[in-house]
Amino acid sequence: MKKIGVLTSGGDAPGMNAAIRAVVRTALKEGLEVVGIERGYTGLVYDEVRPMNRHSVSNIIQRGGTILKTSRCDEFKTPKGREDAWKVVEQNEIEGLVTIGGDGTFHGAHFFYEEFGLPVIGIPGTIDNDLYGTDYTIGFDTAVNIALDAIDKIRDTADSHERMFIVEVMGRHTGFIALDVGIAGGAEEILIPEIKTDISALADRIYNERKAGKSSTLIICAEGEEEGNAFAIAHKIKRISGMAFKVVVLGHIQRGGAPTYRDRLLAGKLGSEAVFALQNGQKDVMVGESGDKIVFTDLQETWTKSKTVDQKLVNLSLLLA
Ligand code: F6P
Repeated sequence: MKKIGVLTSGGDAPGMNAAIRAVVRTALKEGLEVVGIERGYTGLVYDEVRPMNRHSVSNIIQRGGTILKTSRCDEFKTPKGREDAWKVVEQNEIEGLVTIGGDGTFHGAHFFYEEFGLPVIGIPGTIDNDLYGTDYTIGFDTAVNIALDAIDKIRDTADSHERMFIVEVMGRHTGFIALDVGIAGGAEEILIPEIKTDISALADRIYNERKAGKSSTLIICAEGEEEGNAFAIAHKIKRISGMAFKVVVLGHIQRGGAPTYRDRLLAGKLGSEAVFALQNGQKDVMVGESGDKIVFTDLQETWTKSKTVDQKLVNLSLLLA
């Protein structure tokens, strides 16, 4: 193998730059040429490909976002789009591809491998941490820390005014961010899609706690919660009990800013291992970390098998609330 490409796709995640840097620097040290593909699969369809050298990735390890830009590319979901992309791969003589992103990114990578046989290695980069085959995804730790910082601040004002807040954190289909940040932030209630929420029982609990003297309340709600978003839940609680909640949606703030040391370290490890994996003939797999071991999982399994929330953490959240 002489030349590889690297791209970032889907929602950006802090640490993607550190991962790009690790891919580029490792590849160069291994004597490979590297090209960066801009705007995710869009750059592969429209030939937005640029050579990368050591300096292309200088001074980016600490930066949030992705220097290669990202997108959710509709063309690449079609056979015609992937055919166009394959022509670009051939023209640029790319012999292996590293894709950094989440399950949508890996769907695209897997189909592309199946159709054209280009070896592809996925690096898990999403704040949601919702990929089977790795303990953590790049960006999750930073997102949790950002949310925690915000929640600590909300707690100050909630306490001063003796108010009740529902804070919505990201997590399209999963509650990994909500659970971890809820425990770390000392939330009274944590609502996640993996566990059915009984709104009446929830409202009763909070009402009784208020009557018993509890002055402020913090509920953390995952974006993907089945009972609805934070506004819908506040509305339902009000209808049942008359209690009014302030609602804060943290939103995209969780996707920005400097990556934490944990995300940078994970990005460094997985970025390097992705290059070695291509050299060793791996294809159609995601590189992840389980415990302190580097592990490989078929791309398809990263979304067909589901990563479940840790029941021990759920129990802990109930114990400490
Ligand atoms: O997948 C990461 C994520 O931030 C989810 O938590 C969220 O639901 C989604 O992306 C938001 O995507 P967009 O930035 O396209 O609105």
